[in-house]
Amino acid sequence: MAKADASKLDWNNLGFEYMDLPYRYTAHWKDGEWQDGGLTEESTLHISEASPVLHYGQSAFEGMKAYRTPDNHIQLFRPDQNAARFKRSCERLLMPVFPEDKFVDAVKQVAKANADFVPPYGNGGTLYIRPLIIGTGGVIGVHQAPEYIFTIFAMSVGNYFKGGLTPVNFTTSAYDRAAHKGTGQAKVGGNYAASLLPAENAHENGFADCVYLDPVEHKYIEEVGSANFFGITKDGVFKTPKSPSILPSVTKYSLLWLAENRLGLGASEEKIDVNDLDQFAEAGACGTAAVISPLGGLEHNGKLHVFHSETEVGPVTKKLYDTLTGIQFGTVEAPEGWVQRVE
Ligand code: PLP
Ligand code: COI
Repeated sequence: MAKADASKLDWNNLGFEYMDLPYRYTAHWKDGEWQDGGLTEESTLHISEASPVLHYGQSAFEGMKAYRTPDNHIQLFRPDQNAARFKRSCERLLMPVFPEDKFVDAVKQVAKANADFVPPYGNGGTLYIRPLIIGTGGVIGVHQAPEYIFTIFAMSVGNYFKGGLTPVNFTTSAYDRAAHKGTGQAKVGGNYAASLLPAENAHENGFADCVYLDPVEHKYIEEVGSANFFGITKDGVFKTPKSPSILPSVTKYSLLWLAENRLGLGASEEKIDVNDLDQFAEAGACGTAAVISPLGGLEHNGKLHVFHSETEVGPVTKKLYDTLTGIQFGTVEAPEGWVQRVE
């Protein structure tokens, strides 16, 4: 694959595709410790055919973004939260923890080294940053890997869901994403492999993605394969599912806080019955890649429940979007410690 060339990118029409940017950060774990890491131009990994990541899915990742501010600085949104979640994911899969402060520093190095690829302010584009750890080395029994590669690469991106702020429709899935005491709270590769078929089924039926229900009763909303779910009740409460098998989303916790402290809404993490969608005036999906994607309708058991509208974003969702993205791009005052400048 050819190296990406920033001068050839169409900033107004970025999708969500891999790009081979000039620099990534790579560190190796060997002989029981992290070796010196650093920036490299090498985008191909060479690993043993018996690496546990290949057979047994020993891998975890993160998703973060770097934002260009109107005065041309580059900043990160709550990178400490991603570092902390990455640590928890690694612990769940018995992988060595990359120190959290070094994680944030390495993310900054990658954003800075690829600064030409952080889209200009104004069109919503960002630098999507993907930290990844994989278990490598020759192991064929089901054991943790003897060696690991930690890498952080990046790419310029636009919308994850095609509509942007135009609503999309989702359908519920008959499959489970994760078990309550499984790996749903960890950002590990296997969760995403398991979501490919359900998502493909949803696409074939004309939906942008699917919403998983709880793995016990198939009654409560869990999340989307790539984002969390939220709804705005008719009496002004920002509600998002509480479940032990969904990903603790940095965006979701930020929105819960902003709903209460900046928008004067109620905010609640609680079980959301898929048969009780009438309580909501608006709904959406939220996440780093998805940002906030308004949900036009949710199909369940063959019936499409339309929230605010299938074509227009609702007023509260729009306010949440403007507040969140304003903080991320530096045009709205950030709560203490939420943004970190790269340069
Ligand atoms: N849920 C899943 C399954 C995800 O993959 C993501 C994306 O990271 C999210 C939720 C949203 O999490 P965050 O807001 O931390 O990006
Ligand atoms: C993210 O929002 O960062 C994600 O990881 C979602 C998806 C691209 C897997």
